Amino acid sequence: MGKENTVRIKTLILSAATAFALSTGVASAAGGGSGHIENIDFSFDGPFGSYDDYQLQRGLQIYSEVCSACHGLQYVPIRTLGDAGGPEIPMDRVRAYAKENFEVFDAELDDFRAATPNDNFPGSNLENAPDLSLMAKARAAFHGPYGLGINQLLKGFGGPEYIVAILTGYTGKEKEEAGTTLYENTAFPGGWIAMAPPLSKEGGDVEFTDGHANDLHHVSEDVAAFLMWTAEPKLEDRKFTGLVAVILMALLSVLLYLTNKRLWAPHKYGRKED
Ligand code: HEC
Repeated sequence: MGKENTVRIKTLILSAATAFALSTGVASAAGGGSGHIENIDFSFDGPFGSYDDYQLQRGLQIYSEVCSACHGLQYVPIRTLGDAGGPEIPMDRVRAYAKENFEVFDAELDDFRAATPNDNFPGSNLENAPDLSLMAKARAAFHGPYGLGINQLLKGFGGPEYIVAILTGYTGKEKEEAGTTLYENTAFPGGWIAMAPPLSKEGGDVEFTDGHANDLHHVSEDVAAFLMWTAEPKLEDRKFTGLVAVILMALLSVLLYLTNKRLWAPHKYGRKED
């Protein structure tokens, strides 16, 4: 009886391990196949990941100096730049940033005024440029469902990877279609995007005060990380809550298992309750 059980458990573990191996194998093959999107090890990936506040600050700078010419972030309150777990910019600098960079229309004044931390970022300036607040969650590079979802757990769904792939995926070819210029891009579905390459291949579009690398790849990753934060600002809280839930569940399982054993012990071994 005991031996049989051990064998059964061994088979179970073996088949689970096979399923796991198959699912991760299939998922990575499929993820890499569609649209040339590579996984990137972001600091916020995985069950214990968290944002790198310096990277988010660089991303904010790139957004402000380059992308905001066309794209808005209308769902993001400017004050959240100071939140723990985000870019963590001191409040006086957030106030100065809002004032220097954005004007908002104030219905009470019936006029434009400088933005304050209590305002949201403005919407898009360019009509056909989508708002970027939620873009990192609206797009996915690694599509599910594959097997157990282990890939999504460890690598995320690939929204930031998709953004990096768009920014670095220009081939240099252009074509004219119905009066608009389209640019060939290996990551964009359909292969032709209406956004001119916002970052140059040679890099150097922004200068960081700390002298951090500003080549195309680094800059793309930084702005993609920043857009992941705008789409998922409470990621760290959510992961922490999940972790606590998992630990409590594990404890509960152990207690239930022990209770169960104790309850059935007299019947199983024909012993009297002690
Ligand atoms: C000159 C204007 C302009 C600038 C600057 C610009 N974009 Fe765009 N962007 C666009 C337009 C227009 C589209 C819509 C393209 C389309 O649908 O073909 C777009 C689309 C996008 C998309 C969505 C692609 C999709 O899957 O729909 C992303 C992501 C994006 N831009 C990111 C950025 C980032 C990051 C920056 C800054 C580094 C930036 N853009 C700078 C005009 C711009």
